[in-house]
Amino acid sequence: MMEEGKETATKGMAEFEQLAAERRSVRRFSDAAVPDEAIRSALRSAHLAPSSNNLQPWEFHWVRRSSSHREAAVTACLSQPAAATSSDLVFFIGRPDLLKDRAAALQAHFEAEGNDGTAGYYRDQVAANIAGMSAEARAAWVDKSVSLAAAQFMLAIKAAGFDSCPMEGLVPDKVRALFGLPKEATVTMAVSVGEGIPEGIYGPRLRFPLDEHLTEY
Ligand SMILES: Cc1cc2nc3c(=O)[nH]c(=O)nc-3n(C[C@H](O)[C@H](O)[C@H](O)COP(=O)(O)O)c2cc1C
Repeated sequence: MMEEGKETATKGMAEFEQLAAERRSVRRFSDAAVPDEAIRSALRSAHLAPSSNNLQPWEFHWVRRSSSHREAAVTACLSQPAAATSSDLVFFIGRPDLLKDRAAALQAHFEAEGNDGTAGYYRDQVAANIAGMSAEARAAWVDKSVSLAAAQFMLAIKAAGFDSCPMEGLVPDKVRALFGLPKEATVTMAVSVGEGIPEGIYGPRLRFPLDEHLTEY
């Protein structure tokens, strides 16, 4: 039983490492459309990302190639090839302005469950923490959790057999205007999705040796 479990874990590790190795930032895509279900499944995975205090401070704005928003979305991404040739674009947005509401909703959830301890934690500590932060600190805090959702999304897209490119080369004000977002909303990144073509990979994978970035104790 133990042995079987160990084998399964080893297989899982190897498969996940392979998936991470195969995900590349792909800047050019074929004309093929990515099925909605692949995007929707990757969004479900993104939505399962961890977030600080479980506040889930994200919003995902999905623009299909056929959408009337497409042209403005590509322009907002500076018409980079990764955006212009994509099948779909997903904008990962942070909502520091909604943190208070989300903490209140979680407080209400735990109150309804009769979990007064956790409800009190959201009412007292989390709410005070949010109120005490500068706008910059709040935006940076939110971006951390939103980035994790984007990372999970890109791996899920690779698992579905498609490619992606994260982009912060964009004009945040144009993105906010396109989706009617308030000025406090952070445009953490856009991710383009499509069927990659070989010319879309601009060079071999380049990483510093892991040893240079890892300290073990
Ligand atoms: C937050 C973030 C923003 C990025 N912005 C862009 C971008 O605007 N355009 C682009 O072509 N690549 C962009 N990239 C992709 C990086 O250049 C790429 O991840 C890096 O070169 C490593 O390549 P790899 O993803 O294939 O391993 C971005 C990556 C991240 C994480």
